[in-house]
Amino acid sequence: MASPIVTMSFTEATQKRRTIRALEAKTTVPDSTIVKLAEAAILTVPSAFDNQSARLTVVFGNDHKKLWSITADALLARIGEERWNGGTKDRIANFANAYGTILFWDDQSCATAMKENAPDIYKDKTDEWVQQSNGMHQYYLWTALEALGLGVNLQHYNPLIDAQVQKTWGVPSNWKLKAQMVFGVPKDGSAPGEKQQKLPLEQRLLVFGAVNHPVPN
Ligand SMILES: Cc1cc2nc3c(=O)[nH]c(=O)nc-3n(C[C@H](O)[C@H](O)[C@H](O)COP(=O)(O)O)c2cc1C
Repeated sequence: MASPIVTMSFTEATQKRRTIRALEAKTTVPDSTIVKLAEAAILTVPSAFDNQSARLTVVFGNDHKKLWSITADALLARIGEERWNGGTKDRIANFANAYGTILFWDDQSCATAMKENAPDIYKDKTDEWVQQSNGMHQYYLWTALEALGLGVNLQHYNPLIDAQVQKTWGVPSNWKLKAQMVFGVPKDGSAPGEKQQKLPLEQRLLVFGAVNHPVPN
């Protein structure tokens, strides 16, 4: 079996995952490791009826810069100078100054085929399942990148940038952009603060029938 890309335990990795927006154009691992992670996500993350509708694009270096310059141009045209200069410009600069971005897409042809082929009782659920699988790809990669010592944040400038991104990188027109995951080495002093106060567990988790029995070795 191929050696694992991330060696941290699953629980540790999920506890380490946070949102970090102040990032440098540096990495802790070779680009090939990040590409391997993207491949592993594609090959291992589940989808409804094994429909495999999620698609990824990974951009590094000048392509990453280009993505954020496309986003900057589109936003400026949409919101105007005043709002652009009132904070948005700096926010986008933070992303542009990071190391790379993973773009998450859904292939609309796959989504349509799943709806057509699904039994009648599931037809109104398939769109939701396509989104759920995309979210699983996002969580997989967010957690894994942070376990590799990178800082990560998740952005949503779709659908504003879809057409220009598709044109620039020849991405099929039936792919629909869902999210942009920015990564890089966290800037000094950008460690995330205490986790926001979480709602009381009992409001969000109900457990029934659990038994405290010894687990066999
Ligand atoms: C579905 C989803 C959408 C999000 N969208 C954005 C976003 O557009 N921009 C952003 O900066 N953070 C976004 N976030 C990050 C959340 O704000 C962040 O995960 C949350 O506040 C908890 O903080 P933590 O990630 O440090 O645990 C998103 C997170 C999720 C799960």
